[in-house]
Amino acid sequence: MKVVINSKYQSLAVFIENIESYFESSEDILYDQRNLIKGVSYQGQDYVVKKFKIPNVINRIVYRYFRPSKAKRSYDYSLKIGEGICPEPIAYIEDRVRGLLGKSYYISRRYSYDFTIRPVLLDNNFEKVLRDQVLTSFADFTFSLHEKGILHRDYSYGNILIKHQQGQFEFNIIDVNRMQFRMLSLNDRLENFARLSADDDAMQVIMTRYAKLVNKPVNQLLPVANAFRDEFMRKRKLKKKLRGR
Ligand SMILES: Nc1ncnc2c1ncn2[C@@H]1O[C@H](COP(=O)(O)OP(=O)(O)O)[C@@H](O)[C@H]1O
Ligand SMILES: [Mg+2]
Repeated sequence: MKVVINSKYQSLAVFIENIESYFESSEDILYDQRNLIKGVSYQGQDYVVKKFKIPNVINRIVYRYFRPSKAKRSYDYSLKIGEGICPEPIAYIEDRVRGLLGKSYYISRRYSYDFTIRPVLLDNNFEKVLRDQVLTSFADFTFSLHEKGILHRDYSYGNILIKHQQGQFEFNIIDVNRMQFRMLSLNDRLENFARLSADDDAMQVIMTRYAKLVNKPVNQLLPVANAFRDEFMRKRKLKKKLRGR
């Protein structure tokens, strides 16, 4: 088993080395789709443990020779993104069976958020004034990522956590195993909003702010952003259809 612990958190070594049993005994399931995510507390601090689904044989070979595991990438990229933008990384663990990737875990600090951006975008009962405020702050946050050359390749609503405090909104990104770090063109930036499933009204609010930040007219950016979104939705629908669901 390979165990990598953030040097800042070496005091958690015993906890991390026994993470499997802490994980198994935790009943605090946060999410259970492809991967299983649970909350685990230790010495008064809250952590989140993500156990990755074991990949198919082909990918287990790919992860052996060609590509770092999702656990490793989540950890490395979180360190690179830096504090205040994503939950701080604590450790990752890879179990190898005859060299091939088996179980793997990524452990981070738990971010106590109030909501993801999902209800803001999709819940019709979400209050309009608040919605516009969140979406405007979201445009600011995304712009600051883009300016730092941070591109989240799975920028979808479940991966954007929001804390509401004193009328301000603080954002954190998670699920960061697919990132790129590079200078971003305007098209890269607009395409980044495609996976949010935002409706026209939400896109309008987000793009109005984003356009100000890049000093371009909104009527130049909005149609491009919407076209990226529509193209993404069309492809996703087609994929679902081909898979027969
Ligand atoms: N560090 C964290 N702090 C708080 N909640 C988290 C954290 N990491 C994950 N979660 C919760 O787990 C959910 C799924 O996490 P995610 O890493 O996006 O898993 P998946 O790859 O299955 O989408 C998030 O929407 C959030 O509710
Ligand atoms: Mg996710």
